[in-house]
Amino acid sequence: MGDEVRIVEDNVDATEAWNGPLFDVWMEFREILTGGVCGHGEHALALEPPREGDRVLDIGCGLGDTTVRLAQQVGAGGHAHGVDVAPRMIKTAVDEAAEAGIHNVTFATCDVESATFQDTFDYAFSRMGTMFFARPVAALRNVREALAPGGRLNMVVWRRKLDNEFLHRAELVVAEYLEEPEDYDAPRCGPGPFSMANADTVTDVLRAAGYENIRLGRVDLPYKVGDDLEQAVAMNLAIGPAAEVLRLWGDRVDELRPKIAADLRAALADYVVTGGAVFASSSTWIVTAAAPR
Ligand SMILES: C[S@@+](CC[C@H](N)C(=O)[O-])C[C@H]1O[C@@H](n2cnc3c(N)ncnc32)[C@H](O)[C@@H]1O
Repeated sequence: MGDEVRIVEDNVDATEAWNGPLFDVWMEFREILTGGVCGHGEHALALEPPREGDRVLDIGCGLGDTTVRLAQQVGAGGHAHGVDVAPRMIKTAVDEAAEAGIHNVTFATCDVESATFQDTFDYAFSRMGTMFFARPVAALRNVREALAPGGRLNMVVWRRKLDNEFLHRAELVVAEYLEEPEDYDAPRCGPGPFSMANADTVTDVLRAAGYENIRLGRVDLPYKVGDDLEQAVAMNLAIGPAAEVLRLWGDRVDELRPKIAADLRAALADYVVTGGAVFASSSTWIVTAAAPR
């Protein structure tokens, strides 16, 4: 499972972001972030499950929650291999899987865009891990080359911003105050969470990467944005398109942050349900495709 660890120049910035500030945010808001996308991932797995005994690749696996889930699905005769460009994500995934006593799982740090996988897989899965490559065709071609003939790809990606309004509202609030700065030191997360929102674009990317039988299915589910409004505001100020603009500005806009937080509180208030938790609608594509036979 010794995948190549070479990060292409275009992904160096994103790697720094995912291994640095976004790793910290992911740990802090883990329950909300992974809880929110869990239902979408489960839909994808129900629609196109791996088979018992399959060798499975989990692309951009983050902390390895889905890799462990896949390992359980394929059973002791199968294997799940999670890859992520952020070494801190992988270290946590390795430690947690070992602690949980999961034996049919491995992890490796690698940039999928430059990886040459040493193994062949029957099935590749990704929950929100394929939207951040600088060159998605190159990355998904590498995955396709690692699939056995007829091997399947199953990935979950965000649909358009307008149908994920809780993220979009935050972006609009920040835009009232700030555009992206021209100069900044903070790393960016790559093309961003909505880079595969357009069905035609994803289809073209997968076709160019050599896949067949490309299908997209829309899934809409409620997303818990926070246990309460404060957490929902904090989460939106920590990750997502609005948060990235703030991160790029850094401490140059400290005096604006309380005003932005107050506006965001007002913008998200109608998502609060009885009991105080914050629920919004969320929308993804479940994208399935296959390597040619
Ligand atoms: C939104 S997170 C999703 C994590 C996980 N799949 C989940 O659902 O919890 C995106 C992940 O993609 C990873 N990633 C971004 N660019 C990558 C690349 N070029 N190669 C491998 N992983 C990458 C990030 O490090 C991050 O962990």
